[in-house]
Amino acid sequence: MTIEIEESNVSLGAKIRGLKLNALSEKDWIEVHKAFLKYAVLIFPEQHLTQEEQEQFSARFGKIENLVDNLKTIPLTNKASNGELYEQDSEWMKLLKGNEGWHTDSSYMPLAAKASILSARIVPTTGGETEWADMRAGYEALDNATQKKIEHLNAYHSYFHSQAKIGHTVKQGAGYGFNASDAPLHPLVKTHPETKIPALFIGRHIHIIQGLSEKKTEKLVAKLTDIACKKGTTLLHKWKPGDLVVWDNRCVLHRALPYPLTEERLMLHTRVAGDSRSERAINHATA
Ligand SMILES: [Fe+2]
Repeated sequence: MTIEIEESNVSLGAKIRGLKLNALSEKDWIEVHKAFLKYAVLIFPEQHLTQEEQEQFSARFGKIENLVDNLKTIPLTNKASNGELYEQDSEWMKLLKGNEGWHTDSSYMPLAAKASILSARIVPTTGGETEWADMRAGYEALDNATQKKIEHLNAYHSYFHSQAKIGHTVKQGAGYGFNASDAPLHPLVKTHPETKIPALFIGRHIHIIQGLSEKKTEKLVAKLTDIACKKGTTLLHKWKPGDLVVWDNRCVLHRALPYPLTEERLMLHTRVAGDSRSERAINHATA
């Protein structure tokens, strides 16, 4: 089979056809990895992988991160185990709701994620798309004065605070940065460890930029987000069951779009841990 790469019409993202992710040859993997570094978001339509196959593909990118309840893959679904759809104001739906803000996965953990893998099982008739924004292009779009102003700034990322902003109190003990001082500290401009391209490292989990007030932090992050996630520059994917997407958390932001909560949506999510040398927070020891 020949790999077909269909570039998007924005600075990130490509659709890849002509290969089966559950039977990747070494040659195919080299092509996929090259495309991952170039496009940052790869969409593979009609793969229909099993959960185990998704984990095997994810492991090509590195060590799989343990998610909630130590699972390698979690179902992102609005359907409870009793078969009923969750109430909108339930704890779980508040957690999912958070995904509708621009973010990068696990930036609130001592080790931020390298890649995320998401596949569609059941999709609503409308909404529920995923959208990505290119933080390399976002950095490039800034004027020189702003680039200079932010190049040495660092920000504390806190899940506790990002969820609090949408009315969800994360229980103490989860270790998601209750105090600004112990929340993971990451540079605002990240040099990609493989491509060496600078990219903004922002998103909804930023609580405080070191040396700035909360108000000034909010203002600056909003300004950077507006520029980097400008309408017309982002990539949107309308899911079909069987699609799988992998993206590079080191240089893109993503968000989920809302959908009617009267309809079921089921996605499988796997996360690849970052490299300790490049994704470990500045204020946490290298392991
Ligand atoms: Fe996410």
